[in-house]
Amino acid sequence: MIIEKIAESRFNDSVFESKVFGKNFTDHMLVATYKDGQWSEPKIMPYGPLEFTPAAMAFHYGQAIFEGMKAYKNENDEVFIFRPEKNFERFNLSAERLNMPTIPEEIFMDGIKTIVDLDRQWVPKNYGTSLYIRPTMFATEEAVSARASNEYMFVVLLAYAPNYYDKPLSVKIADYFSRSAQGGVGFAKCAGNYAASFYPATQAQKEGYDQVIWTDSIEHKYIEEAGTMNVMVRIGDKLLTAPTSERILNGVTRDSILTLAKDAGLDVEVRPISVQEMYDAHKEGQLKEVFGCGTAVVINAYNAVGFGEERAEIELLSETESFASILKNKLKDIQYGLIEDPYGWRIKIEESVTA
Ligand SMILES: Cc1ncc(COP(=O)(O)O)c(C=O)c1O
Repeated sequence: MIIEKIAESRFNDSVFESKVFGKNFTDHMLVATYKDGQWSEPKIMPYGPLEFTPAAMAFHYGQAIFEGMKAYKNENDEVFIFRPEKNFERFNLSAERLNMPTIPEEIFMDGIKTIVDLDRQWVPKNYGTSLYIRPTMFATEEAVSARASNEYMFVVLLAYAPNYYDKPLSVKIADYFSRSAQGGVGFAKCAGNYAASFYPATQAQKEGYDQVIWTDSIEHKYIEEAGTMNVMVRIGDKLLTAPTSERILNGVTRDSILTLAKDAGLDVEVRPISVQEMYDAHKEGQLKEVFGCGTAVVINAYNAVGFGEERAEIELLSETESFASILKNKLKDIQYGLIEDPYGWRIKIEESVTA
């Protein structure tokens, strides 16, 4: 790995006062290029603009994928990342589906560990804050021709992630638009999935909702996921979530929450959840919690769900009663190195490069 350090760090403590997610980039970025069937040696260099031709194929045909993960720091200045192998596997699944080359493990994993170590002063210490890690790959071949590109770039960016004020959100259950379809790319973390979701989300916002809960594209009968989160539903004391499929992103947070919930002895079921079942439960006063889970906020409670024209308000439970709060705190404590991690999820970033 080639390392070209920045001449003078841009870091100052005021970065940590920012309330903006994903805008304050660190001193360095990692870049590797793919050409003639081979990946170049990755290079860590000062963060800054890169030059592209407007004919770069990603701009035209959308071969672009990414991942999202975080680095956390505890009181002893130890830095951790969380289940990075899951993001690595998912990145390559996305790459395969988008007809892009896979990335070798040493470029992805060693690259991330090295750049996080190098920019470790940018990892904030306040509980709830973190450093967002954004690996991405996109097509760079100069050609306006509808086929898979022969050249790609892999980039890792790091940006400050403030403590989200995770205000409860309202969500509309999709009854017309679809995010993904069977045989499509819903399980891939590709740029186009997000591009396609913005218009329906904007329409939902006009109706007074923050986000959309996607449903199956055939009948809009079963709930799938929301925004950048998988969805969990508590009916009575049962915690439900949809099985992952070709249409749903297999979230790392979802998987971790399911494990924690089962180990806490909660009644957990992974099965299709129909909109009708949720609606009936609401009418019977049994729809106790609905929440999204994902890397950005860990868990975000929903306080209203739109069933067609009807807006169902959900009263939030107290911290001690809410499955969402209990599971969120447990997961965060593991991520921040505050409690034992019996699962081996937390990976410590050893200090080497900066020493
Ligand atoms: C569409 C979608 N679903 C679910 C998730 C949650 O996944 P994770 O928990 O791995 O962040 C994300 C965020 O990455 C997402 O973009």
